[in-house]
Amino acid sequence: MPFPKPVLIDTDPGLDDLLALVLALRSPVLDVRAITVVAGNVPIDACTANALRILEAAGVEPPPVFSGCAEPISPPVTRAEHVHGADGIGGVSEVWPVQHLQTESVHAVEAIPDLARRHPGKLTLIALGPLTNVATALERDPAALTNIREIVVMGGCGDGRGNVTSRAEFNFYADPYAAHTVIQSGLPVTVVGLNVTEQTLLSRARFHRRLASMEESKLRQFLFDATGPYFDFAMQRRGRDACPLHDPLAVGAVMDPTLIRTKRMVCEVVDKQGSTRGMMTAEPVDSISNAPTVQVAMEVEAERFLELFLEVMCR
Ligand code: RIB
Ligand code: CA
Repeated sequence: MPFPKPVLIDTDPGLDDLLALVLALRSPVLDVRAITVVAGNVPIDACTANALRILEAAGVEPPPVFSGCAEPISPPVTRAEHVHGADGIGGVSEVWPVQHLQTESVHAVEAIPDLARRHPGKLTLIALGPLTNVATALERDPAALTNIREIVVMGGCGDGRGNVTSRAEFNFYADPYAAHTVIQSGLPVTVVGLNVTEQTLLSRARFHRRLASMEESKLRQFLFDATGPYFDFAMQRRGRDACPLHDPLAVGAVMDPTLIRTKRMVCEVVDKQGSTRGMMTAEPVDSISNAPTVQVAMEVEAERFLELFLEVMCR
């Protein structure tokens, strides 16, 4: 696959989404063709405004932004303001207002199939939030989605642990029907779950050291301002001044697939209320079943990823 790789990012910004989007936009090996926004960490309007302000702060030629689904297919709604701030961006929306960028008029669930058709066999879809947009697009136009080269999903957990409940990761918990639909689609899906993302712990001190080495810029100030609360939450929750780079690792795995090692498995996502909502099951492939399979990330070269992340973000 020649570089740069064309990618479409579906996202619910959120602070780790912010880091993932900036990483992708600054990466010389990725070409971000479009951003689609889904409700998740915070409501759709806040997620959409965050996507626009991240693009303005990143100071790059902005790709088109398409706003998408406001509600999960599987109710009820689950949010994560306690992690990302009420505005989804660490409370800095007041001091970092959207200046001029606007979204496209087309809805994300129409844009995804259209983009897939326009880049047959070439587009990698990186999904960083609940899979509502992707599943809805898949159900409306399955033929179009077969044009997608790979779907890399930040979600689930290869060893069954969760971060919303003991068993369910947020993106899969927030819309289990959508997650199950994508996981069982038979499309080339790679799942980057908590079992690997929780190994990519970036300390505040290390991040700030590298930010300080950057030339002064709007982006540097934005990253300082916005990420503080993410580290604060990590400190409260883990007792360590370091945060996991969930969404950035999904982007990193597209930038350099050798950063993770995957295993082909048969996966399902539990779509029912109760203690197992959003839980991902992962079974080894057996020769008899012809159930759809996905690649599940089982190992990560965490330090090599962290160094790549800091090199691209802070150069
Ligand atoms: O569980 C982590 C995932 O849920 C990340 O994508 C984070 O942004 C939230 O959406
Ligand atoms: Ca996210």
